[in-house]
Amino acid sequence: MTTEPNQPTIRQLAGHGGETVQLRGWLEGGRSSGKIAFVQLRDGSGVVQVVVSRKEVSEQAWEAVKGATQESTIRVSGRVNLDDRAPGGVEIHATDFEVLYATEDYPITPKEHGVAFLMEHRHLWLRSRRQRAALRVRSEVCQAIRDFYYERDYTLIDSPILTPAACEGTSTLFETDYFGDPAFLSQSGQLYLEPAAAALGKVYCFGPTFRAEKSKTRRHLMEFWMVEPEVAFLEFPGLCDLAQEFVQYLIQRVLDRCATDLEILERDRSLLEGYVAEPFARTTYTEAIELLQGMGQSIEWGDDFGAEHETLVGEHYGRPVMITHFPAAMKAFYMQPDADDDTLALGLDIIAPEGYGEIVGGSQRIHDHDLLLRRIDEHELPREAFQWYLDVRRYGTYPHSGFGMGLERFVAWMCRMDHVRETIPYPRMLNKIYP
Ligand code: 4AD
Repeated sequence: MTTEPNQPTIRQLAGHGGETVQLRGWLEGGRSSGKIAFVQLRDGSGVVQVVVSRKEVSEQAWEAVKGATQESTIRVSGRVNLDDRAPGGVEIHATDFEVLYATEDYPITPKEHGVAFLMEHRHLWLRSRRQRAALRVRSEVCQAIRDFYYERDYTLIDSPILTPAACEGTSTLFETDYFGDPAFLSQSGQLYLEPAAAALGKVYCFGPTFRAEKSKTRRHLMEFWMVEPEVAFLEFPGLCDLAQEFVQYLIQRVLDRCATDLEILERDRSLLEGYVAEPFARTTYTEAIELLQGMGQSIEWGDDFGAEHETLVGEHYGRPVMITHFPAAMKAFYMQPDADDDTLALGLDIIAPEGYGEIVGGSQRIHDHDLLLRRIDEHELPREAFQWYLDVRRYGTYPHSGFGMGLERFVAWMCRMDHVRETIPYPRMLNKIYP
């Protein structure tokens, strides 16, 4: 924090009415006439308006105010004035004003900039109001994720980032050299959680995940954060309930703790309140295909949903919807077949409404050794690389289930951001890795 020693931050000012304080931070904007200047000071905890009256400060301070440029580092002393008309209910009436470091030609001005320009200046773009709000929501959601699992007695299992084999298909692997052998950046911690669930029962991981997706959409990142629970003896119906409880817990937390940020982002709270007020909609894959066909979409049983299909399904229900029972052939090798129809897999996707699409993917896992081996062969995966994963089925196998939720997609939905790139501090996108 940028406070002076023993001084309140801007966020704490409301408790210091009438006191004289000293603040340090950056000049976000301002205007001045011949006699009075208004300066927006940001210190990281918030923004406060500083009122500088020419008669009340030294000549030197007045000259400093007049010459101060956007994003200069400044120090202000002044009286805390509680005033309902001021944003945040507080204003500072300056007694002194100093420019500590002057900034020249700050690239991001109050005028509109194109996204490409802003992305090139992501390191500075972070200072903008909407970006700060989104990153605070992200931070709150991360804490809520940890709290949810901690409160329910899960053990955190940090899965490795460097891995010897694929988890979610071989087409999106980032390959790297591991002392002469290939290694891959992790696509999911799932395979490492399954053995840990036999050790600790209820486990989860939460960390960066990598997909070399040649997708340039508003939902795809090359590096994103995924939270994945895995639970011993949890079967498919319980998995669906867990996923719903989890997502609703996170929404409620955002409603409870991010009110100011939602306001800055102009997020319609009543929609979010509706998503926690009743259970999510549920439909099978087959029903969802029929629904889409009924809407005139050209999609066949066995096809994957495209982004526009997910949007239509989400719009149809107007709330989050859980899609279950997918054709086994289109899903990952590890998914448990449905007992009544083994062409179907006990997989679960949660589609967020408002066009945000899939935020959760999960399944019950195959726990039969021979069936899993067959699937590894059918998917042409290297048997040697999966011996350890098969061991989980050799030694005390057990039914188990889990899911993964992409943090950035969830946060984008909460913030109603157009693109996931604004929900992670430094997005990694197709062919873009600067800064
Ligand atoms: O559906 P996915 O691929 O599931 C898995 O990786 C499972 N192994 C998880 C598990 O069962 N433990 O990915 C899960 C979620 C998606 O629903 C989406 O939210 C997010 O991860 N996701 C992405 N987010 C941003 N950019 C991408 N390229 C993403 N790919 C997946």
